[in-house]
Amino acid sequence: MSNSAWREKNIVFIGFMGAGKTTIGKLVAKKLDRDFIDIDEEIEKEYKMPIPQIFAEIGEKAFRAKEKEFIQHLCDYKLKIISVGGGAFLQEEIRNVCLSSCIVFYLDIVWDAWKNRLSSIVDSRPVLQGKSMEEIEELFYKRQEIYKNNFHSKIEISNQDMDELAECIVENLKLSWELHETK
Ligand code: S3P
Repeated sequence: MSNSAWREKNIVFIGFMGAGKTTIGKLVAKKLDRDFIDIDEEIEKEYKMPIPQIFAEIGEKAFRAKEKEFIQHLCDYKLKIISVGGGAFLQEEIRNVCLSSCIVFYLDIVWDAWKNRLSSIVDSRPVLQGKSMEEIEELFYKRQEIYKNNFHSKIEISNQDMDELAECIVENLKLSWELHETK
């Protein structure tokens, strides 16, 4: 791959619900002066309803199909910063297209930090609703198995300042771009 092609790759953020993909993605996009796209937001715009309503009225299957369609489409572009929903990497085709055409950042949050966020995110996350804390913890670790085997760069998150994390990601990216240029 040419140097410019590496520099121009989309950047994709993956990780569990509430890890901070959208917040960090927006900050990184601003720092790099690139467009930011949140896949969940695109799906909400398409169906003109919030995600819990999409799950309730149209169903998770249709949501997952739309999620795949949007991500595959965006992977044809360059220079985008993309946040994908926490369930997106369960689909092999999504993993493959992102890993082959984008730089994938895994936002890895520890359970102890994540569990404090549950109450603020549960209302907008149908996947978490109606589950006990034990079931959610099980889902958390099950998902972690998928994320941890499918990324290019990992950022560990506990309770750091989001702007500092975004800065760290930008530094990490700049280094990787430079390394590719000297190859
Ligand atoms: C989901 C995560 C959500 C959203 C949907 C399903 C999941 O996105 O796509 O509620 O299955 O993990 P966030 O990870 O941005 O919360």
